[in-house]
Amino acid sequence: MSFGFESTAEQVTEGIDCTGQTWLITGVNSGLGHETARVMALRGARIIGAARTEAKARAALDKLGVDGTAVACELSDLDSVRAAVESVRGLGIALDGIIANAGIMALPELKQQSGIELQFFTNHLGHFVLVTGLLETLTPTGRVVMLSSGAHFLAKRGLELDNLSGEDDYDAWRMYGRSKLANVLFARELARRFEADGSKRTANAVHPGVIRTNLARHVPDVEGLFARIERLKTVEQGAATQCFVATNPELAAVTGAYFSDCAQADVLDHALDDSLATQLWERSVELTAPSPA
Ligand SMILES: NC(=O)c1ccc[n+]([C@@H]2O[C@H](COP(=O)([O-])OP(=O)(O)OC[C@H]3O[C@@H](n4cnc5c(N)ncnc54)[C@H](OP(=O)(O)O)[C@@H]3O)[C@@H](O)[C@H]2O)c1
Repeated sequence: MSFGFESTAEQVTEGIDCTGQTWLITGVNSGLGHETARVMALRGARIIGAARTEAKARAALDKLGVDGTAVACELSDLDSVRAAVESVRGLGIALDGIIANAGIMALPELKQQSGIELQFFTNHLGHFVLVTGLLETLTPTGRVVMLSSGAHFLAKRGLELDNLSGEDDYDAWRMYGRSKLANVLFARELARRFEADGSKRTANAVHPGVIRTNLARHVPDVEGLFARIERLKTVEQGAATQCFVATNPELAAVTGAYFSDCAQADVLDHALDDSLATQLWERSVELTAPSPA
């Protein structure tokens, strides 16, 4: 059966049994992450739900009636991310997958963390530390799903690795696009590394569609933004592509790809640049190295 724009997360996972599996999902308290957790749990998965605070994650799981594990993971604070890595490792449970879903979008003014533009820090670097910190806990066929966006096409200047501060000609959307390009390139490089290691693990990136969620909270003319979108998805439809990529048995060997509407899709040229993907990885390692005590 093929799926598309209208498919919901429930439809794309129908008949797929995730009993016995454990999935880590970031941004579990809102929008697409919340719906993804609901549907993955419906299919039998044990959920480790991450949010900025443990209380937020716990409340989200309780609201869903999911008996999962709540983890604090403030992605703009690497100490919090490292603590999340330790607490997930400490559970002693192998992860069948990670859905790196949390994100922020289009901050109108330049904001930084440790001198790095905040969208790049939160959407990419925070997840980089989380995912790379948990690679050893992934099962041999574990899947990593990175929430990117069609907005990565806005990163026409590429990753701008010489402008990670965001201070050169800051633009809310270009910088959001840059962070989402980083999500695609991270999945691509991770997939390459898995393959080089002879691993059957996969890493892919997705565009979920355009959905009215809290994500647009920083956009000044939010109604104007949505009015310009030809077709919006519901949250149930918006969570479909990530659930599809996470669970579909036919994708067991598909890796390093980008999906939209539950199908592989084209990306910006920069997103196909393997050398850029490697540079991003190496730079991310440097930027996130713990400072000596
Ligand atoms: N909605 C769309 O149209 C659309 C389109 C393309 C791509 N996406 C991508 O889809 C993903 C989910 O977005 P959504 O639409 O579901 O938005 P959302 O409802 O705003 O959810 C975003 C989640 O990310 C969390 N988050 C934000 N900053 C964080 C931080 N510093 N540390 C930890 N968690 C943080 C939020 O927590 P709080 O609630 O505590 O802030 C929230 O749980 C994002 O990666 C987004 O870029 C969405």
